[in-house]
Amino acid sequence: MTDIRRRKQDHIDLARQPSHQMSMDSEFEHVRFEHIALPELDLQSIDMTCTFLGQYCKSPVIIGAMTGGCDEGEAINRHLAEAAEYCMIPMALGSQRAAIELNLQQNARRWAPNAILLGNLGATQLAKGGLTLAQSAIETISANALIIHLNPLQELAQPSGDHNWTGVLRAIEICCLKLDVPIIVKEVGAGIGPTAARSLIDAGVRYIETAGCGGTNWASIELARNPSSREREIMQPFLTWGMRTFDLLPPLSDISGIDEAIDLQVIGSGGIRHGLDVARSIRLGASMVAMAQPFLEPAIRSSEDVIEKINIINEQLRRAMFLTGSANLDALSQAKLEPRG
Ligand SMILES: Cc1cc2nc3c(=O)[nH]c(=O)nc-3n(C[C@H](O)[C@H](O)[C@H](O)COP(=O)(O)O)c2cc1C
Repeated sequence: MTDIRRRKQDHIDLARQPSHQMSMDSEFEHVRFEHIALPELDLQSIDMTCTFLGQYCKSPVIIGAMTGGCDEGEAINRHLAEAAEYCMIPMALGSQRAAIELNLQQNARRWAPNAILLGNLGATQLAKGGLTLAQSAIETISANALIIHLNPLQELAQPSGDHNWTGVLRAIEICCLKLDVPIIVKEVGAGIGPTAARSLIDAGVRYIETAGCGGTNWASIELARNPSSREREIMQPFLTWGMRTFDLLPPLSDISGIDEAIDLQVIGSGGIRHGLDVARSIRLGASMVAMAQPFLEPAIRSSEDVIEKINIINEQLRRAMFLTGSANLDALSQAKLEPRG
């Protein structure tokens, strides 16, 4: 197995373990809706549909970016893609770098001919590979948008991680200027805060995925793989580093409210674990909500299991909307929160 394939397989194995989920409270529990005892709604008529990247989605849930480029990754991606197609929700691919470098077949578009597919590259890889790499990531899967992930904390914890982050913003800016599809920028679990968001907006980015902490802990996963005891000691204090999705959503979604010239779409992610968290994220300002790790176990098993997971999440969202008296996602975004005594 090549080094990249070994690393991807380790990521899958470790991400399944509860010890690599942030033990600290994601704080989503603190978003408490006012319970509407008189919903005046028929549960089944609640409208959870939305548009994303100009295309219809059955619900605002995105299958978050997970891995490819290893043997198990191929089956995982197939199950996720088939489920995205069936459920009419978008799917983000994991980093395509390994597949591009190893010249592997990328079949996501074949499995999901009509779904919204989001390509994916790491920011430091983009800074090295430039537009050619970005175009290849988009073309191989006919991507509707390209995700660029920022992961400086993960790279610091990773054996032989990339420590040179110069030129990343310029590479993103060039992609915004030259590519035909929108650019989405995300973290991988440490969060994108207002300062980084401002720089991204100035570079032309109009889609930001928070990927805050509270869920999968990439510092912890990489340290478990890191053979250097010195590196493990250095990084120990950073195991809980990062900003929570709960704290990031309001300031990021306020950016558009304050400056109407900026039409920024914020995707909530990082530690979202069920449909009630999806509802909470929409209330905090997200227009779409992505989950990664919750889909991993079902994706290892089958497409049907991923579909069932999506159905359960959708049903939880529908019930949250019912209990908040929200007939559609617009109403949910303004639903009343519990009065504080
Ligand atoms: C097994 C696995 C592999 C991942 N690989 C990628 C990746 O290649 N690119 C990326 O942008 N994010 C990747 N992520 C990060 C997720 O997209 C997400 O931002 C992060 O895990 C936090 O969300 P969660 O708490 O819902 O898992 C991966 C996550 C998991 C669980």
